[in-house]
Amino acid sequence: MLAVAPRSPGAEEAPAPPRQTEDLTVLVVDDEPANLESLRKIFEREQLRVFTAENAKAALEIARHHRVQVVLSDLMMPGTSGVDLLRVLKEVSPDTEVVLMTAYGTVETAVGAMREGAYDFVEKPLRRMQIVKTVRKAGERFRLVAENRSLRRELLLLTTREIVGQSPALRRVMEIATQAAPSLATVLVLGESGTGKELIARYIHSKSQRAEGPFVAVNCAALPESILEAELFGHERGAFTGAAQRREGRFARARGGTLFLDEIGELSPQVQVKLLRVLQEGEYEPLGGEPARADVRIVAATNRDLAAEVEAGRFREDLYYRLNVIAVTAPPLRARREDIPLMVDHFLGVYCKKNGRARLTVEPEAMAKLLDYDWPGNVRELENVIERAAVLARGDSLGLSDLPDAVAQASPRAPDSLEFPIGTPLDEVEERLIRATLKHTSGDKRLAAQLLGISTRTIYRKLGE
Ligand SMILES: Nc1ncnc2c1ncn2[C@@H]1O[C@H](COP(=O)(O)OP(=O)(O)OP(=O)(O)O)[C@@H](O)[C@H]1O
Ligand SMILES: [Mg+2]
Repeated sequence: MLAVAPRSPGAEEAPAPPRQTEDLTVLVVDDEPANLESLRKIFEREQLRVFTAENAKAALEIARHHRVQVVLSDLMMPGTSGVDLLRVLKEVSPDTEVVLMTAYGTVETAVGAMREGAYDFVEKPLRRMQIVKTVRKAGERFRLVAENRSLRRELLLLTTREIVGQSPALRRVMEIATQAAPSLATVLVLGESGTGKELIARYIHSKSQRAEGPFVAVNCAALPESILEAELFGHERGAFTGAAQRREGRFARARGGTLFLDEIGELSPQVQVKLLRVLQEGEYEPLGGEPARADVRIVAATNRDLAAEVEAGRFREDLYYRLNVIAVTAPPLRARREDIPLMVDHFLGVYCKKNGRARLTVEPEAMAKLLDYDWPGNVRELENVIERAAVLARGDSLGLSDLPDAVAQASPRAPDSLEFPIGTPLDEVEERLIRATLKHTSGDKRLAAQLLGISTRTIYRKLGE
């Protein structure tokens, strides 16, 4: 039982500065100054930092200016109630945990408050041990949430793979993605298999205001319809045979972040209808449960021609338009061959390091084949080819024999040819050849240099002359 100290004459009205130090700060809100004082003493004896406020307004003022991990607030206060304070506080300081103090007969209200995000409640009369324990637990939860968030940020930095490429085609895509990222708009990423659709989706997430929230991917092709629905929306216990436990769906898990719906073209008509409803209403319904707000940003991807799927009646037109607010199309690798040398270089760096060997150089014949090959599997295929070479190559360079047969035997793309009369001065032959090669590589000097087997510096020098 909490001993309520008599109100001391001239008790200060303003919040006294915190005296004690442990890395847990609690803000006590109660309209009864005597209660504030006894709670302050309790927490100070526990080495916590304590702020006190006699009403919601003062409490918010403190929460705005100090890092408060836990608010312990009376539920019933004249003016703004504890629940109202909770709502506003979650806007001002979303991570702060709130514990409510309830009097007899208000427990139901407190339970309702937990649905709104209160951490817990303690019943009056307060017991010292219990209240300290609850506040400490709330502080621990604050710490875990903060830690989780910072880990997520680090992981994002570690796992967000660099998007390599300088071609105008890729740059256009990245421009659109960069512009779309900060908005909440749904983005549809199109493109052949292996072109980097998922990479683009992750990039959009990393540049969005939800970057610190989760990125949750669902492969719509990998799961049978019956499971997919439960997987997306979750289900209550006993919602269907075999649902022994309540289960959170991906929509719930992506709360505050991005939900990546991969292979969206494979959705069954039934799931298409459900997804459409979510997009229209901003709410989803767990199987056997209550509707919940869909607090997610959706990025969808497919390697199908979705417009053609609509035309053929296999994909709902209304859903298509909902998803296709902003579309980005990842270009196939063969449409941006100028990126190939950069990517080869990039993946060589990654995989030679991974295999603990010195970086391989690429022999000109091998580079020529890498440029000729059509890459039906796009970047993924190129990445595999380089990874394989980084494991298998015996010397310190990557030659034709280190490439898979399909690549090594790629038929040369007919380059433009040059003709010189016998006796043309070598200088002139050189210059015209360099210029023609540059034209062939759309002005990419690096690539031209690789094709010619000379350094980029040599190109600059020769052209300078
Ligand atoms: N521009 C790029 N720069 C660096 N790596 C890339 C690039 N594009 C794709 N990759 C790499 O290629 C592989 C395939 O990319 P990703 O999985 O994003 O393709 P996808 O379009 O989703 O393919 P699928 O349709 O088969 O699912 C990944 O390892 C990715 O990191
Ligand atoms: Mg993919």
